Amino acid sequence: MSKIKAVITGVGGYVPNYILNNQELSTMMDTNDEWITSRIGIKERRILKEKNKGTSFMAAKAIEDLFSKTGTKPEDIDLVLCGTTTADHIYPSCASMAAEKAGIKNALAFDIQAACSGFIVSLATATSFIESGHYKKILVIGADKMSSITNYTDRTTAPLFGDGAGVVLLEPTTEEVGIIDSLLHTDGVGMKHLHIKAGGSAHPATHETIDKKEHYTYQEGAYVFKHAVTDMSEVSADIMKKNNLSKDDIAWLIPHQANLRIIDAVVQRTGVDYDKVIINIDHFGNTSAATIPLGIWESEKKFKKGDNIILTAFGAGFTWGAIYLKWGY
Ligand code: UT7
Repeated sequence: MSKIKAVITGVGGYVPNYILNNQELSTMMDTNDEWITSRIGIKERRILKEKNKGTSFMAAKAIEDLFSKTGTKPEDIDLVLCGTTTADHIYPSCASMAAEKAGIKNALAFDIQAACSGFIVSLATATSFIESGHYKKILVIGADKMSSITNYTDRTTAPLFGDGAGVVLLEPTTEEVGIIDSLLHTDGVGMKHLHIKAGGSAHPATHETIDKKEHYTYQEGAYVFKHAVTDMSEVSADIMKKNNLSKDDIAWLIPHQANLRIIDAVVQRTGVDYDKVIINIDHFGNTSAATIPLGIWESEKKFKKGDNIILTAFGAGFTWGAIYLKWGY
């Protein structure tokens, strides 16, 4: 009997309408379009402006998009996993809130916290659940409202981030397509260089932490940059080597979108042609766990059944990794 594999059978996405471009950012802080474009590669990002709407709103919109494109019914879904750092509340999970909004009643739903690597970690987890036979229709979401944890008076972090959500449907198959391999890593050395200081259990929010803006992202950019370049490049090369893939075997490389210069380094290390690299940082910025599923969402029509695709991400923790999959439709 052929082994059961997990294959992506549909994709949905959502980004808010509001566009925050570099010109508008330059009126908010001491920065400019030339610096942001050349140092990061971002021109504009989407921001969820509507009051009282959080990440689960965008995740549910992405799920509705997937349902309408694939004809999937909410009652058929048996597991919802959401990679996110910006759940609407500390609890319940974003996955459970998004499932409720999308009318999903027969599923287990929970979040996976692996920062910007949240989508690939969720996809690898969902793959194990499909391969073991536990679940048959899994929604794997990557969604973040990064504007909710961004200090718009800090020019070293504010230009980087945007809001969005992407989702894929994962199902069993016995065909030679689907998720083939994953390599995932964590190194806690990253904590002090990229974190949110207050609002968690070690330092619950107080008037003082709010006044000091400690509920926003703190990042030592240059240190994080070096690790992102090395770790994403190495893990992408490692997964290619492990699966005997040359650069010419790769149809698409979908890297996390934190900085165009980091993406360039991964492209150089893997040797993959630049026209096979999916890029959305210029118009969406770093949407954290959403960058990769949004890349899949925007490029779905370009993919052919059997295409070899490498996903790779790096984020807080540090967490990083790569997934090798064959496109299924
Ligand atoms: O997704 C999760 C993981 N995160 C990442 O992978 C992000 C990794 N880090 C980066 O992408 C980059 O380090 C940044 C984009 C955050 C910063 O770029 P950089 O080339 O490392 O710049 P830098 O922090 O070394 O700053 C260079 C200069 C500084 O001025 P001085 O000290 O040389 O006079 C900064 O003050 O650029 C200045 N600068 C800015 N200038 C204009 C920093 N931010 C800005 C800005 N506009 N927005």
